[in-house]
Amino acid sequence: MQIRAENPDDVFAVRHVNEAAFGQADEADLVDRLRKSAMSYIALVAVDGGTVIGHIAFSPITMDPPQANLSALGLAPMSVLPDRQRNGVGSALVREGLAACREAGADAVFVLGHPEYYPKFGFEPAAARGIGNEYGAPPEAFMVLELTPGALECVTGTALYDPALAD
Ligand SMILES: CC(C)(COP(=O)(O)OP(=O)(O)OC[C@H]1O[C@@H](n2cnc3c(N)ncnc32)[C@H](O)[C@@H]1OP(=O)(O)O)[C@@H](O)C(=O)NCCC(=O)NCCS
Repeated sequence: MQIRAENPDDVFAVRHVNEAAFGQADEADLVDRLRKSAMSYIALVAVDGGTVIGHIAFSPITMDPPQANLSALGLAPMSVLPDRQRNGVGSALVREGLAACREAGADAVFVLGHPEYYPKFGFEPAAARGIGNEYGAPPEAFMVLELTPGALECVTGTALYDPALAD
């Protein structure tokens, strides 16, 4: 299996992976919108034998009140073909994805997801830093990973996703 940056030839395969993983088209539509609208869309695919079997996307997060010096991204969505799940593909996508975010200069990455899944990558509850989310998700489900040490020290408020996600 190879993890690499998504490229324009992957668009239909990425749609398929998202539709299969979520059992609906909403997340595939969201990825298509993010790709067009998000200022710094980062996406990776997991490929096995020429087939795209997994996908992960990151898009910008802004803070309310604004934090001019903070470059933050949000992980969403991620997906693995149902018959390839629970084999470490998702974990590999998260690890490589975080490396790509670091390389792109991100100071922090947020995620709204399963509180049992993300801590193993270093994510911690954002609420412990006084950072909330706009969706009213339970505090333990909204997490953040600081990539630049100290970047979140004086940051509090509400983390806002790209409008495509908010929609
Ligand atoms: C979430 C997802 C991307 C994980 O991919 P994966 O390749 O199965 O992940 P890994 O193999 O690296 O990790 C598997 C571990 O993740 C955890 N896990 C996976 N799906 C989970 C879920 N829905 N709830 C809680 N934990 C989950 C389990 O602890 C599992 O470990 P186990 O096999 O010992 O039980 C995949 O399950 C998926 O596509 N799900 C549907 C879409 C989705 O919910 N995406 C996340 C929200 S954007």
